[in-house]
Amino acid sequence: MNSIGVIGAGQMGAGIAQVSAAAGYHVFLADISQEVADKAKVDIEKRLNRLVEKDKLEKQAAETALGRIEPLSSFEKMATAGLVIEAATEREEVKRTIFTEVGKILGHKAVLASNTSSIPITRLAQASPDPARFIGVHFFNPVPVMDLIEVIRGLATSDETVEIVRGYGKALGKQMVFANDAPGFIVNRVLMPMLNEACFALGEGVASIEDIDAACRLGLNHPMGPLTLADFIGLDTCLEIVNVLFASTGDPKFRPAPLLVKYVEAGWYGRKSGRGFYDYSGEVPRPTR
Ligand code: 3HC
Repeated sequence: MNSIGVIGAGQMGAGIAQVSAAAGYHVFLADISQEVADKAKVDIEKRLNRLVEKDKLEKQAAETALGRIEPLSSFEKMATAGLVIEAATEREEVKRTIFTEVGKILGHKAVLASNTSSIPITRLAQASPDPARFIGVHFFNPVPVMDLIEVIRGLATSDETVEIVRGYGKALGKQMVFANDAPGFIVNRVLMPMLNEACFALGEGVASIEDIDAACRLGLNHPMGPLTLADFIGLDTCLEIVNVLFASTGDPKFRPAPLLVKYVEAGWYGRKSGRGFYDYSGEVPRPTR
């Protein structure tokens, strides 16, 4: 497999493109417009340059990796890719539309994967041309830093498809864990209730934003407190995942915290919108309440 398609050039898609190019794959990186895809490449260049400045990457290797990334606004060129990874918005109808479109040009042996955080793979596979060649490949943010890929097999996913993804993950130098197609898979099944509970605790006045975060950072040795992490992931994404957990299990333990819903309704999505539980307009993030 020489080339990879990545659909969606947001923080996850751009990260996947970066690590795939660094591992030697030619990467077709597509988004809704050429401008958005080009901008993602500019951001990847900045991140690669930072690695060069820190002596973590040779200048030549950074240039070669960057040269392997081809930003696009359509899917046609992905007909030659051995693996196409969708990393678009965490909304099922958006992903289904993409699978239908890319399915028209996907190579006969190529694998189609979704970086979905929680939507069932077996269900998404129904929108793909061949459910046997459909699989979940879940990366973690920031992709270049986080060592894990969660691989999720749908009911119809073939052994051959799993092996292709295993080879790809190995080439990237990532650790892989294999999960069954259950809501939230492993990581989000465990993580999202914690982030959601931190929102309940804040809403109920248990403690301040800073103290909830400090408690988990210092008391649990987590690199980020739950409210900082929720802002980092995106509060809209967190809510989408909690909603999937709640809807697909019907279990009230997964009901979204009213404060999380309210912040998303206000457009306070966290770091990416400039405000969530923290305000990111200054040099240092400040708690908003
Ligand atoms: N992109 C690329 N590299 C980044 C980065 C980014 N956005 N942010 C930080 N880094 C790199 C830095 O360059 C630095 O690299 P170096 O050690 O080679 O110099 C390294 O990460 C550490 O960064 P910093 O020293 O600036 O900051 P920290 O030590 O605070 O680490 C962190 C930052 C790695 C993001 C750390 O806080 C962390 O691990 N946080 C938790 C992240 C996490 O839990 N991610 C998973 C989210 S869940 C998910 O993605 C699933 C989805 O479905 C919701």
